[in-house]
Amino acid sequence: MRPSSLKGLLWSHACRTGFSMLNRAVAGRRVNMDSLGLFVLLIPTFSHWTAASSADEISWSYSGIAGQSEWSEYFPDCGGSSQSPVDVITTQTKYDPSLVPVTPLGYSQHGNQPFSMHNNGHTVIVELPEWMGLGGLPWFFTAVQLHLHWGNGAPGRGGSEHTINGRSSDAELHVVHYNAELYPNMSAAMTQRDGLAVLGILIETGDETNPGFNNILNYMSRIRHANQRAFIPAFDVQSLLPKDLGRYYRYNGSLTTPPCYQSVIWTMFHERVQISKAQLLKMEMMLYSSKIQEADRMLLQDNFRITQPLNHRVIFASFSAESGRELSSGEVTAIVIGVMCGCVGVAVIIRFIVKTIRTKETEKSQEKKTDLALTITSKAERKEELSPSPQTEP
Ligand SMILES: *[C@@H]1O[C@H](CO)[C@@H](O)[C@H](O)[C@H]1NC(C)=O
Ligand SMILES: *[C@@H]1O[C@H](CO)[C@@H](O)[C@H](O)[C@H]1NC(C)=O
Repeated sequence: MRPSSLKGLLWSHACRTGFSMLNRAVAGRRVNMDSLGLFVLLIPTFSHWTAASSADEISWSYSGIAGQSEWSEYFPDCGGSSQSPVDVITTQTKYDPSLVPVTPLGYSQHGNQPFSMHNNGHTVIVELPEWMGLGGLPWFFTAVQLHLHWGNGAPGRGGSEHTINGRSSDAELHVVHYNAELYPNMSAAMTQRDGLAVLGILIETGDETNPGFNNILNYMSRIRHANQRAFIPAFDVQSLLPKDLGRYYRYNGSLTTPPCYQSVIWTMFHERVQISKAQLLKMEMMLYSSKIQEADRMLLQDNFRITQPLNHRVIFASFSAESGRELSSGEVTAIVIGVMCGCVGVAVIIRFIVKTIRTKETEKSQEKKTDLALTITSKAERKEELSPSPQTEP
């Protein structure tokens, strides 16, 4: 065993089994590994791991002693000021009319070559052919892989990484691309600003089975253990995306797993995709984070990072809050009733006005008649006054 891989193994082992290992070492089982593990545990801090050969070999987890709150100790970028995921507070987003719809390129031209899918102990990853890409950004991005984040099947917080107005979704799909105009490959791009573009799709459960997701879920039983790999039939990757690719949130962020490089142009779609409850359950219950040779099977669950501070950043929206808002049936009813009441109101007012005018006109014409009558009378009277009566004439 190479010393570096041994270190990685021990670290992951220490992380997952913690002090239970101590007991086993004492009990004399798996002596070699556990006595070394004991050595690791007896060192007060794990700081010496940062000095270890490569950061990638350090094993991390979502909770426990190598959990997310500790990531930045071993992966300094995880403590940066532009981290992902974030909570999108929709009222604080800024509408940017220059944000055009993103365009998946070749997503549906999957060809005949099977896709490679594997369990890396943190998620399920499907590698994508290099002819798939992404347009609608300032550069052309080449597709690399897609993966998922999910919860643990219990009600409460869902397993999505991004949240909208504090609300999480059941799961989240990420499609990862690198900037092929500026960088030669993924490993060169992933450390650079503007190096990556990730599409984030929030997943929620509904009544219907989503056939697109079955292209992944139906084969997960072949990669239950960490490091297992399987080839799956190629499929239309666009079938995993929402229909509306024009409405999204855009911000500068990071990888949501160590080493958390701040190299990602994020696109979080406004529209969520739906899968069935059974499909979600499969996602949540099928995989292990442990390797096949490990005695303790650890279900791979709750593989989401909690939301990170936005700090100085602004989240842009490709749509304005007004047009972006979907109306609930209650709101639609309210609007219909409102409009109807309004129309009736206006009709009543018009009728009232017309009636008033008519009445006034009638009154006026009556007044005129009276005036006329009075004038005639007064004229007649004056005439009478002016012309002396023949009787009084001398
Ligand atoms: C990626 O590109 C860099 C820079 O050209 C090169 O040094 C490296 O070997 C490449 N890596 C892979 C995996 O192809
Ligand atoms: C991301 O950062 C770049 C470089 O600083 C900047 O030009 C761009 O406007 C930022 N994009 C967003 C969505 O904030």
